[in-house]
This record gives sequence, C-alpha cells and structure tokens, in this order.
Amino acid sequence: MIELRSDHDIRTWLVERDESRLETLWEAADQVRRAHVGEEVHLRGLIEVSNRCRRACTYCGISVHNKAIERYRMTADEIVDCARRALDLGFGTVVLQGGEDPGLTASMVAGCITRIKQETGLAVTLSLGERTDEELTRWREAGADRYLLRFETSNPAIYARIHPAAPNCPSLDRLALLRRLDRLGYEIGSGVMVGIPGQTWDDLVQDLRTFQSLDLDMIGIGPWLPHPATPLAQDIEAFAGPTEQVFNDRLTTLKMVALARLLVPDANLPATTALATIDKDQGRELGLMSGGNVIMPNLTPPKYRVLYELYPDKACVNETAEECDVCLRGRIARIGRTVGEGPGQSPKQRRTAAMTITDPTRGAA
Ligand code: 5AD
Ligand code: FES
Repeated sequence: MIELRSDHDIRTWLVERDESRLETLWEAADQVRRAHVGEEVHLRGLIEVSNRCRRACTYCGISVHNKAIERYRMTADEIVDCARRALDLGFGTVVLQGGEDPGLTASMVAGCITRIKQETGLAVTLSLGERTDEELTRWREAGADRYLLRFETSNPAIYARIHPAAPNCPSLDRLALLRRLDRLGYEIGSGVMVGIPGQTWDDLVQDLRTFQSLDLDMIGIGPWLPHPATPLAQDIEAFAGPTEQVFNDRLTTLKMVALARLLVPDANLPATTALATIDKDQGRELGLMSGGNVIMPNLTPPKYRVLYELYPDKACVNETAEECDVCLRGRIARIGRTVGEGPGQSPKQRRTAAMTITDPTRGAA
C-alpha cells in the first residue's frame, strides 16, 4: 500500500532506487489509473502551428536565442487540413501548439477554431503560450475546449532563470493565468520539466503539490532535454545550484508520472514525446504503464515538423502522421490497452458538466 500523506512520503518515493519497492509504485499508479480513467488511451493529434516565438526562454530550442533555425507559420488552410487528417485517423482531439507568435493573431486563430469545429466536430486544445485575456476569451467563444500551459517548475528562482521577462513581453503569472482559463470554461492542462539545472527533489514535491492545488484536467511531465542552441545547455554550471540535482532521466520522469496519478487520480496524463525521446523503444509504453492514459501523435506536416525543434532528436520527427498512427496503435495494443473513442474529457469535466445539467443553481459553462 502506498501512503502519500506528507511531503516527506512523496520525497521518499522520488529518491527510491530499490526496484522491488518501485514495482509497488508502478502497480499502485496503474491501479488508480484503471479505476479513475479506465483502459482507454486517448489520442490527441498535435499540430505544431508555428515555430516563431518572441520569448527568450533559456531551455527552449525555438526561443529567440536560436538564430540558426528557419522559421515557419502554418496557414489556416494547412491547419484545418491537418485537423481533417485527425478526423480520418479517428482521433478525438486536435492540439494547436506553437511558439508565442504575435502573427498567430486573435482572428486567425479564432477562424481556425471555428472551421475545425464546423468541419470536424473535434475537441480543440490550444497551447499558444501566455496570451491576453481578450484573445483567450475570443478563442473560447469560437469553440476552443482546452488550454495547455505548463508552469515548467514551481520554484520561482529557477522559473525566473529559464523564463526571463523580455522588454516587450512581460512574464505573466502562469498559475494565475491557469485559474483564469479555468474560469473562462477551458479544461486546463499544465506540467513541468524534470531535471532542470538547479532543480531539487523538494522542488519536484512542490510541483506535485501544485498539480493538486490547481485541480488540473491534464498534466504533462517530461525530462528537460538540453538543446545546444540554448543558454541553459551552453552553461549548465551557471544555472545549477550548489544543492542536490534532480536527474533528467527516464526513471525520475516515470516516478513523477506515477506520483501525479496517485495525487490527482482523475487527470489525463500523457506519455510525453520528451519521454519517448529519451527511450525511443519503450518510453511511450512505460509512460502508459506508470499512470499515463494519453498520447499526442504528431500531425504536423513533415517539412515543418523538423523545424519545431524544442529539443534535439525529438521522437517521431521523421515519421508521417500515418506511420505514427500505426506505430502507436501497435504499442497500445501490445500492452493490452484500447484506443479511446470521442473527445476524452477528464472525469472532473464530465462531473462538472453533469452538475451543470442537474443543478439549476449553477450557471451554464
Ligand atoms: N526539453 C524538454 N522539454 C521542453 N519543452 C520545451 N523545450 C524543452 C526542452 N529543451 C517543453 C516545455 C513546454 C512544452 C511545449 O515543451 O515544457 O511547455
Ligand atoms: Fe511516431 Fe512510433 S509514434 S513512430
């Protein structure tokens, strides 16, 4: 039996190395996953709509620090075409993800959402960074269902180092923004990177506590992967603190996924691309067997996909959408799981929707 009463309990699991004890962690996470979100693995088609970004994040391969990379922004027609592909492949959701690109204007994105809704009926998730209240309201009104915005780390000093404010783009409080998105009626997703230089085990405990306090619908957890064109990778020593350093490895990432499942049992938890990148053979499966229930297959046209280089050697960069689809369905079937039908809302959202119908005192979402 797994007791997670105190921060100390959580920390003990994070540093555990004994394989037979860890077996009980994987089993507990798998049981809770089965009981709360079932056997279905939901596929969310990822469309990387733009690699243009005005931010100077020191970890990210497409920030302004990378002068060498060719920049692109997909057209509305290209984005809607990818969404049609998602429908053909039987996915329930598309995720429009991009850098913080001012060229992705409020009206361009709203137009894409409206067309995708009309032409495919798919659930639409946005992951477009810190945007204005006006933009977020407009996109919600256009029909967007979910918003993903990782807070990356709950340690404010590390966050300030990896996400510096730039002259024309102030850094917004991401936790406040997530609560605002929740009030606007979005399902909210967030997440962190594991093994950021300077990150300690206590920081990871706080990350997990923050997942709990935000009551997230979706939680993405992946290892930090050094990109050679970023300040963080170029000078790890300068960013690392004098204290114990968390590993950016498979084991630590899987422990975080399992603990997130135990602490936020209803959340949708993806087996992330970053996890698949550090273990191309087994990363996806291990993520799904340690509490995960979502995969985000890449639908970006191949010519753009190679340019959306958040970190090097990203999994699935050279495969087509169809190849990934066949590959992922095989991986899911081989571990005895099934592919989910429909939009794959989190149980929390389904409960809220039911309350909206049955409880006349609650306003409609
Ligand atoms: N290593 C791992 N994850 C990264 N991301 C961005 N850059 C990296 C990197 N170098 C993750 C961030 C971001 C998400 C879209 O991708 O957590 O929120
Ligand atoms: Fe893309 Fe396996 S999921 S190749």
